[in-house]
Amino acid sequence: MLKGKKILLGISGSIAAYKSVILLRLLIKAGAEVKVVMTASAKQFVAPLTLSTLSKNEVLSELSDNDSWSNHVMLGRWADIMVIAPLSCNTLSKMSTGLCDNLLMAVYLSAICPVVVAPAMDEDMWNHATTKDNLKKILSNGNSIIPVEEGELASGLIGPGRMAEPESIIIWLQEYFLEKKSFVGKKILITAGPTHEAIDPVRFIGNHSSGKMGIAVAEEFLKRGADVTLVCGPTSEIIPPGVHVVNVVSAAQMYDACIKEFADANIAVMCAAVADYTITNIADKKIKKDDGKLLLELEKTKDILQSLGASKKEKQFLVGFALETNNEKENALKKLTAKNADMIVLNSLNDSGAGFQHPTNKITIFDKSGKEYEFDTKLKVAVAADIVNTIHQLYNA
Ligand code: C5P
Repeated sequence: MLKGKKILLGISGSIAAYKSVILLRLLIKAGAEVKVVMTASAKQFVAPLTLSTLSKNEVLSELSDNDSWSNHVMLGRWADIMVIAPLSCNTLSKMSTGLCDNLLMAVYLSAICPVVVAPAMDEDMWNHATTKDNLKKILSNGNSIIPVEEGELASGLIGPGRMAEPESIIIWLQEYFLEKKSFVGKKILITAGPTHEAIDPVRFIGNHSSGKMGIAVAEEFLKRGADVTLVCGPTSEIIPPGVHVVNVVSAAQMYDACIKEFADANIAVMCAAVADYTITNIADKKIKKDDGKLLLELEKTKDILQSLGASKKEKQFLVGFALETNNEKENALKKLTAKNADMIVLNSLNDSGAGFQHPTNKITIFDKSGKEYEFDTKLKVAVAADIVNTIHQLYNA
């Protein structure tokens, strides 16, 4: 399953680095191509010669060596995944602040591939509040973790902090690559962004949705091999190449596009902040101001999620979003039932770092049985991975 996969193995200074040699050997045996980047202190635990012999690639550790510059950007672009194992407390701290004082950090900061870390530290360091904060930060930045194991530590203490065994890391990677392709052949319909309801040729009623969340969900499905159609309201966000985009402006246009695209979709995720009301009579000329009040007549838009829920076929899976300010759980569950969705993603405007325009979000997911899945505040890309993982779990259940 790892055949042909390009793996960048980052090794930082920890006694657990001896396990990286075994990990490297297992990766090569599994057919992966591996390049190793190590910190200066990692060299005190394992010899670069051992690693270069096993990987059949030069082992890099300095930003420049003998007047030649190590191209950290290309390394991060070359890899399918970067695995930092072991992750020392020091490197974890640098990752959480972006301190770029060695090649491993330069590669990490310029990597466009996913990054997974396998921490290794002594129990007390592992339990320290700062370590927990740093870990939280790097996970919210979209990195993944292979959990530490409990057992005998270098200090002689027994507790949590041991780096995962190389065999466990291999299993994690195999599952990761399997999951990565878990939506091949599936058509996913996603809505994102706000809608604009025209008042006259120059004015509209809109909302603060940026489209970030829906676009992040689209990108996550794309990474996992899906055929993704994004029906998107006005946004200035960049949409990843490979996503089929249907640009719309109004709620009515979004409705028409969704009805058409849902017919052959397997899964639909309605992230858009669709206007609930639209103007009854759009003025065909710019409305002139005068001294009196301007009264606008509004009528309800069609609820797209509800319409899809009503026409949903047995094998189709429907996901809604609920942005709530009060009675959050109750309202989200009501929506889930009323709109015949299979899953609802709740974000509460009461949570700091959640909602419109924020780069981060804090979500709770509910499935049809009312089961609750709670997540920390994370960057929207990491939230998208949580959403897609939960869809994967429920869709295949
Ligand atoms: O009822 P409420 O608007 O809060 O429901 C939010 C969910 O319904 C979101 O998933 C949103 O995309 C969807 N929705 C929709 N069409 C509307 C209004 C909301 O699809 N007209």
